[in-house]
Amino acid sequence: MCGIVGYIGKNPAQSILIEGLKRLEYRGYDSAGIAIYNQEDINIMKTKGRLANLEEKLDGNHLEGTIGIGHTRWATHGAPSDHNSHPHASHNDKIVIVHNGIIENYMELRDELIEKGYAFKSETDTETVSHLVFDYYKESNDLFEAVMKAIKRLEGSYALGVLCKDNPEELIAARKDSPLIIGKGDGENFIASDIPAILEHTRDIYLLENGEAAVIKRDSIEIFDMEEKTVEKEIFHVDWDIASAEKGGYDHFMLKEIFEQPQVVKDTLLPRLTDKGVQLDDINLNKEDLDKINKIYMVACGTASYACLVGKYLLERVARVPVVAEVASEFRYREPILDENTLVIVVSQSGETADTLAALRMAKDAGARVMAVVNVVGSSIARDADDIFYTLAGPEIAVASTKAYSCQLGAMYLIAAHIAILKGKMSMEEYKELKDELMSIPDKIEKILDQQDAIKTLAEEYIAAKNVFYIGRGLDFAVCMEGSLKLKEIAYVHSEPYAAGELKHGPIALIEDDTLVFGIVTQEELNEKTISNLKEVKARGASIITIALEGNEKAKKISDHVIYVPRTHWMLTSILANIPQQLFAYYVSVGLGHDVDKPRNLAKSVTVE
Ligand code: G6P
Repeated sequence: MCGIVGYIGKNPAQSILIEGLKRLEYRGYDSAGIAIYNQEDINIMKTKGRLANLEEKLDGNHLEGTIGIGHTRWATHGAPSDHNSHPHASHNDKIVIVHNGIIENYMELRDELIEKGYAFKSETDTETVSHLVFDYYKESNDLFEAVMKAIKRLEGSYALGVLCKDNPEELIAARKDSPLIIGKGDGENFIASDIPAILEHTRDIYLLENGEAAVIKRDSIEIFDMEEKTVEKEIFHVDWDIASAEKGGYDHFMLKEIFEQPQVVKDTLLPRLTDKGVQLDDINLNKEDLDKINKIYMVACGTASYACLVGKYLLERVARVPVVAEVASEFRYREPILDENTLVIVVSQSGETADTLAALRMAKDAGARVMAVVNVVGSSIARDADDIFYTLAGPEIAVASTKAYSCQLGAMYLIAAHIAILKGKMSMEEYKELKDELMSIPDKIEKILDQQDAIKTLAEEYIAAKNVFYIGRGLDFAVCMEGSLKLKEIAYVHSEPYAAGELKHGPIALIEDDTLVFGIVTQEELNEKTISNLKEVKARGASIITIALEGNEKAKKISDHVIYVPRTHWMLTSILANIPQQLFAYYVSVGLGHDVDKPRNLAKSVTVE
């Protein structure tokens, strides 16, 4: 996610901003910039790449001044580039802003502002806000009022730091659904998207809540709600060290990322759900193109390949196209049948995985159309694909993928619905029903996360398990694949995912007293069958944990423990059923004393074969 730092005080702002941004480097970024007021103008210096590049640019071009804002960008709208980097200024450089979050209605606002004569220099959603604030500012010359008017027009998420050339004695901050804190100093104050950025200067923090904005001066901090009424806030005194501050108070990045899922899934899904259908800006496939496609391959590695498996089950069932889901390391060497009537969908968090990239290039060379589902904007896979779906999970730091995977599942749901609608296989009524359910998914994930303590207790109970099976049918089988991989990756526990119906063709021979079996039971029409398979393993002494939809009494009866997830549309259960598996693997790994974020022998991005 992007990082924000702001300063107003008596000391030179440049080094405070740069040092603050360095403390946010762990969040991941692809470009950086700062803006500082020098008693005349607000000067901006920004660049693509690392902070070291920015420091190089500033060498010999020191920005004077004691009030400024800084930013590290993780690209979402527009590739990483100098002109897309923050801060962004209004056309006359009067208003300068930094932003973290996603403005969902930026296209409408952009069109409106272009009509009014504003010229845009970047492809970002953020630049819209700088022009919008200026547009209101020119009416009243009141910066705070202008920011308040502007944010009332914004849909989506934002953390904002705003400077104005005419009002150099104040810095405005505002937030909704993206983190922003204010640090209280002595004759100096700070803003930041995260505590580590300012911990060196102060430990007294105000945590801005959604819908709050602040006017920050050298000697005062005033916080307001959306009605512009003053909000009295307690100071939060931070006694964390830098390392735990980076993890937002969580013990590991993995746990932090698990808990970020409601927000990032919301960011990935909601802006794309319109009343008329799924809006996929970077996907240009139309009905004619689809009529020519007679086969889809879904190709990826690791966790992303399990998202493909979900995609396959959904696409075949709702769009009625034949789909083959396959790991990239196999696909690339077995001479699959590819031509201009083939669509190849590759899925990758990093966008740099060697086998996935090779598969993409091979498919393109054979004339196939390639769609990529990618998290990193501007990555190799994103650059080479014909159509792109960006997951908006933000940077993922733990090696084991959690939030990126949930966003990949979100992508599978939207792509399946989009293709089904284009092919006339999904009616608008069916889409609307799906859309309502998709919109409630973030809250449902939140409800599952509330069961954290119960899942931790289960993990402690089964910490000594040496062999664990995950069984399910249909979409639940895909969930099993990911649950089993998580347990292997971070807890180093041997586990096998099995299609429940295959158990009796071999693996059931391995079941003995106390073998742990997870049963995933969320597909109503297959439940009875999976429950029969669970009875078979129970009869051979297994201990059973089921993950089932609320109210499934049969599943509860056959299990030693049941973890309930909220009911939802049949297409969407995988994203919910997977969350308890993440928490279970996490707590087993912690209990066994492993390095959760950096498991042995594994790399986050595998750029070699
Ligand atoms: C590595 C990571 C996995 C990831 C896989 C594919 O093995 O450890 O978490 O699922 O690569 O990575 P990608 O970036 O292509 O999604």
